[in-house]
Amino acid sequence: MREVKRFKDNHAVASAFAKYLLSVISSNEVTTIALSGGSTPKLLFKILAEEYADSIPWQKVHFFWGDERCVPPTHEESNYKMTKEFLFDHIGIDPNNIHRVYGESDPEEEAKRYSALISTICHSRQGLPAFDLIILGMGDDGHTASIFPHQMELLDATGNCAVATHPVSGQKRVTLTGPVINNAQEVCFLVTGENKAEKISEIFKDQDSAKAYPASHIHTGKLKWFIDEDAYRLVD
Ligand code: 6PG
Repeated sequence: MREVKRFKDNHAVASAFAKYLLSVISSNEVTTIALSGGSTPKLLFKILAEEYADSIPWQKVHFFWGDERCVPPTHEESNYKMTKEFLFDHIGIDPNNIHRVYGESDPEEEAKRYSALISTICHSRQGLPAFDLIILGMGDDGHTASIFPHQMELLDATGNCAVATHPVSGQKRVTLTGPVINNAQEVCFLVTGENKAEKISEIFKDQDSAKAYPASHIHTGKLKWFIDEDAYRLVD
């Protein structure tokens, strides 16, 4: 069941989600979280660093990534680098609880290594790792994590992770596969901006065309969409 939480703008989305994160992490013994790249997470990390550095018990969190670009961790496009700069450098977190994708390694080898690591740390349900929380965005082409519309097969792929290719730049990415995303305890989409409005409307109105968008195939039992008015404006 999809739960929709609407807010006036991207800042309100990030603030509301930060508050929600505090409640999730505080109520769990340990929380395994897969992070996302993108503009709204960047804002979220900034808010978490500024307002929640001391109130969230960070030592109870294990951070992973739902997808990573195959670039070194110092590269401008690295999701890890962005998270480090905006969040990790400002909070008390044990480096052993940060599980980055080695974007500098051979992508296929790294997909295997990261798959195994995930299975070691996350608890398992129905033979697959079950993250406590996966944070996702949606691109304006309907992709989520790094599952793009031209690689729908990754929604059913075996293995926890796979190598994906960005449709325009050809950049390789390591991404969680559909079965692992859908096996999470909870998935939260953070979606903001006018350029998402058409796809959001097709998805939320359950139109046939939406089947072509990877984001529409995410259907965990606990599924929340944190969304701003610009992205939601064609739904009503
Ligand atoms: C990535 C992402 C990707 C992102 C969407 C939405 O690393 O590129 O994980 O799936 O979440 O492209 O990005 P925005 O939040 O910037 O719209």
